[in-house]
Amino acid sequence: QKVFIINGPNLGILGKRQNNIYGNKTLNDIEDNLKIIATKNDIEIIHLQKNSEGEIVSILNEIYISYCDNSKSENLKRNLIGIIINPAAYTHTSIAIRDALEVFNETKVPIIEVHLSNIFSRETFRHKSYISPIATGVISGLGSYGYEAAIFKIIEMGKNA
Ligand code: DQA
Repeated sequence: QKVFIINGPNLGILGKRQNNIYGNKTLNDIEDNLKIIATKNDIEIIHLQKNSEGEIVSILNEIYISYCDNSKSENLKRNLIGIIINPAAYTHTSIAIRDALEVFNETKVPIIEVHLSNIFSRETFRHKSYISPIATGVISGLGSYGYEAAIFKIIEMGKNA
């Protein structure tokens, strides 16, 4: 059973980027911790960080075609138990990423939107998320723990599916 974790632009420099807002952990630190949780719970995580909108859309399209397309077997469909996405700045601008995620709403695959910072306590342009209306859940302001919470929820949902 697989969980995809997709991180958007500028998250590759976490740990060196506005530490007061985003914390001291690097993306590798976050990934290593999530891998420990994944191993303990007998799931696999696939982590990708991309700076461009098109690449994120392509990845989501590929995930959909590989695991959720109706031509796929039920077994293969059950392999994908969730997607965790921090679309970073594209949260506030990207209809394309929203559309690419919305197709999963027809499947049982949960989509969890994660933000390290509390986007609602920051500039007003960050208050709007194109992604939240089509997400299963949204976590904002819990720092790197947000990814952990998301993975635990996906594991729980996967077990009850
Ligand atoms: C972010 C919040 C976004 O507004 C910002 O553009 C980011 C990171 C977060 O994780 O808090 O790059 O998604």
